Amino acid sequence: MGILAGKRILVTGVITDASIAFHVARVAQEQGATVVLTGFGRLSLVERIARRLPSPPPVLELDVTSEDHLASLASRVSEHVDGLDGVLHAIAYANPEEALGGNFLHTRWPDVATAVQVSAFSLKAVATAALPLMGGGGSVVGLDFDASVAWPGYDWMGVAKAGLESCARYLARDLGEKGVRVNLVAAGPLRTMAARSIPGFDRFESVWDTRAPLGWSMTDPEPVARACVALLSDWFPATTGEIVHVDGGVHAVGALCPPRPAARPAPSMSSPCPARTARGSSTRSPPTCTRPAATCSTASSSATASIKGPGGSSCGCMSRRCPARPRRGSPCTAASPRWRPSSAWTGSCTTPPCSPAC
Ligand SMILES: NC(=O)c1ccc[n+]([C@@H]2O[C@H](COP(=O)([O-])OP(=O)(O)OC[C@H]3O[C@@H](n4cnc5c(N)ncnc54)[C@H](O)[C@@H]3O)[C@@H](O)[C@H]2O)c1
Repeated sequence: MGILAGKRILVTGVITDASIAFHVARVAQEQGATVVLTGFGRLSLVERIARRLPSPPPVLELDVTSEDHLASLASRVSEHVDGLDGVLHAIAYANPEEALGGNFLHTRWPDVATAVQVSAFSLKAVATAALPLMGGGGSVVGLDFDASVAWPGYDWMGVAKAGLESCARYLARDLGEKGVRVNLVAAGPLRTMAARSIPGFDRFESVWDTRAPLGWSMTDPEPVARACVALLSDWFPATTGEIVHVDGGVHAVGALCPPRPAARPAPSMSSPCPARTARGSSTRSPPTCTRPAATCSTASSSATASIKGPGGSSCGCMSRRCPARPRRGSPCTAASPRWRPSSAWTGSCTTPPCSPAC
């Protein structure tokens, strides 16, 4: 039995079979849910896409800027299901010419207003429109792109996402007493129609290639879909106002160059620090990357050094041990070049300068 067995879920935001919402609907059905879709604008296209789901669901029209559509949503949904246990909000829009792609300082208010209304305010609009059907409580899940930092080209959509994050927290506050949880999934970049409208979106790929501890594939929506379905299920009964990051771990990491596990063979001095390899994605070197070059484990000293090569590039992944401690009574000499003596027992470990091989 699936984790959504018996649940009735309203899924917004399907436009193609690459849409995150399409995959949430698919996984929800696989997990036993009855799904109702909403589509915006090109309804015949959405209906065609809906037929690719395991069980083709009904499709209702919903423009989140239309008061009429919102006001009639509950009664139209109730023609297909007798209530709702969950709602997926997978809706965003910003004018790519004006509000995205580096025009941040010159975007006019009407374009900002549209981005904020469609991408942030609509979470409240859809949640309250569906509320009459959620008498038994339920789960509202929205899709976010980490808005805690500024991204290239994301511009006013980034501001709208920051608003979405805040909106989710206030909704969680106000809907908690009705037993309705409100959470967001902050997804890593995925190739969808909305993503293609963001000028320079492909540049995110190198960020994820070099910073995702778990790796990341921009063509695999499954992890995001599963997280949404998990939040729609009963398996997060005491979680609300939360942002679950499904981004390969990028939000938690400044830069990647982890020490190699001891069991692995030490790389040569000339080998670059490794980039992460996502399933099926390319391998790239981080722009700068330093590692502890040597750790001196003698009784009296413990020296670590980060070594950079010419131009600040990484010197590679040196993991040589300090030379053996001199025998008791025999002072350090130039014969132990990496042992800098101050006395026989208080020497410190030094590392050689970068060689050209770095
Ligand atoms: N693709 C990514 O990299 C990514 C990453 C993080 C978060 N997200 C978010 O995921 C959500 C879904 O986007 P997607 O990437 O699957 O792209 P998508 O283009 O497949 O979906 C966007 C949807 O928004 C709908 N929409 C636009 N204006 C609307 C309106 N006025 N009323 C109702 N619906 C409207 C579109 O019809 C479309 O179905 C968005 O909130 C997006 O910001 C996407």
